[in-house]
Amino acid sequence: MERKKEAPVGVFDSGVGGLTVVREIIRQLPDENIVYFGDTARVPYGSKSQKTIIRFSEQIIRFLKTKQVKAIVIACNTASALALDTVRGEFDVPILGVVFPGARAAVKATQNQKIGVVGTDATVRSGMYTKIIQEMDPGIQVIEKACPLFVPLVEEGFKEHVVTREVIEYYLEPLRATDIDAMILGCTHYPLLRSKIRAYMGEDIQIVNPAYETAMDLKKLLKEQGMDNDRAEGSASRYEFYVSDTAEKFRQFANTVMPFDVPETNVVNIEGF
Ligand code: DGL
Repeated sequence: MERKKEAPVGVFDSGVGGLTVVREIIRQLPDENIVYFGDTARVPYGSKSQKTIIRFSEQIIRFLKTKQVKAIVIACNTASALALDTVRGEFDVPILGVVFPGARAAVKATQNQKIGVVGTDATVRSGMYTKIIQEMDPGIQVIEKACPLFVPLVEEGFKEHVVTREVIEYYLEPLRATDIDAMILGCTHYPLLRSKIRAYMGEDIQIVNPAYETAMDLKKLLKEQGMDNDRAEGSASRYEFYVSDTAEKFRQFANTVMPFDVPETNVVNIEGF
């Protein structure tokens, strides 16, 4: 299949978290068209098994391929950690994850070779961040911590609620007690709590959001493969949003994250793919 420059980039996550990656892709690649899928019917992924996360990812990729995407970004750390290797071997479309770029950014950021990683249960259990970081630099110590309640707090719009501050303190207290100097937000929902996490962890720790380096990798990939879109002057990039449930709730939330009014969001029967 010939992939056209104007074809969209597919991006997916278990819910709204991947919008933090879309936001960064739009910032760095404003000429690209994007199709986003949020698996709102089956979120959270972080408590599920690898087998299930691979099956969900395969279904979503099959759906995105019906939109003729030229590349796919798995904007979900859990699916990147548990499904990326498998799906890369199964589909004839380039697929990027967020874990490798996030690990690389943290390796660059740390001065004392001590990195903290926060993520879902499944991501932390996979040990993928530690594995990739130590492949890049075996001398780096990695401390991973699962923070499963962060996802529902974000999905429910509890960012400003006092309970969120308490949950942050509960999960991050053991990390704050170490001397890590860099911390990866290893779940795409967590950048939406960034200011609260920053307030608790203090100014001395570099907080790494993998979205930035992921968008850079996408840019490089599209350029290298001659697939970068040179949008005609005056035309606007197209952004389409799909979910597996509760489209209006998603759209309202998306409007608080995205730098533009999110258009109508459509529900897809993802189990049919
Ligand atoms: N946002 C996803 C991640 O980056 C997962 C959240 C979830 O579904 O548990 O890991």
